[in-house]
Amino acid sequence: VEPTRRDFLYIATGAMGAVGAAALAWPFIDQMNPDASALSLASIEVDISAIEEGQEIKVMWRGKPVFIRNRSAKEVEEANAVAISDLPDQNARNANLAADAQATDANRGVEGREALIVMVGVCTHLGCIPLGQSGDFGGWFCPCHGSHYDTAGRIRKGPAPENLLIPPFEFTSDNVIQIG
Ligand code: FES
Repeated sequence: VEPTRRDFLYIATGAMGAVGAAALAWPFIDQMNPDASALSLASIEVDISAIEEGQEIKVMWRGKPVFIRNRSAKEVEEANAVAISDLPDQNARNANLAADAQATDANRGVEGREALIVMVGVCTHLGCIPLGQSGDFGGWFCPCHGSHYDTAGRIRKGPAPENLLIPPFEFTSDNVIQIG
């Protein structure tokens, strides 16, 4: 990728604890100090090499938080154990998949890197930002009106009508993803 084509690159060098990683990601973003124009860029690149198992970072894309989580084996297992037919929203909401493939995308991890999950961190109810690793299903919990998402970001309980959205993204190298 030519540097001129790279709108903004997040480099996940700041290691964060697994517990409360989502909250701790904000100081990390501040430290990166993107200016206002960077926050509304059409596409961003994120170096994910430093996100260890059980860790998560939050980056800004088009003014919205995007959660990038390297899920633990337990989290992946829990997501895989759920039958699609038991989900309130059986659509994966995955911008990377064709519409007819979405309903069968059970755990929503990145192809070939199942532990990795990339999601827009905006509650599908009324737009609050869910808290990570909380709620009844160990995924994300939206405190505004009590929506519980599981470890694959799928709505399991509460008023939110849809799973957390998965933005369009692709790998531009082994450890860099371009979102948007
Ligand atoms: Fe998340 Fe209402 S905005 S539950």
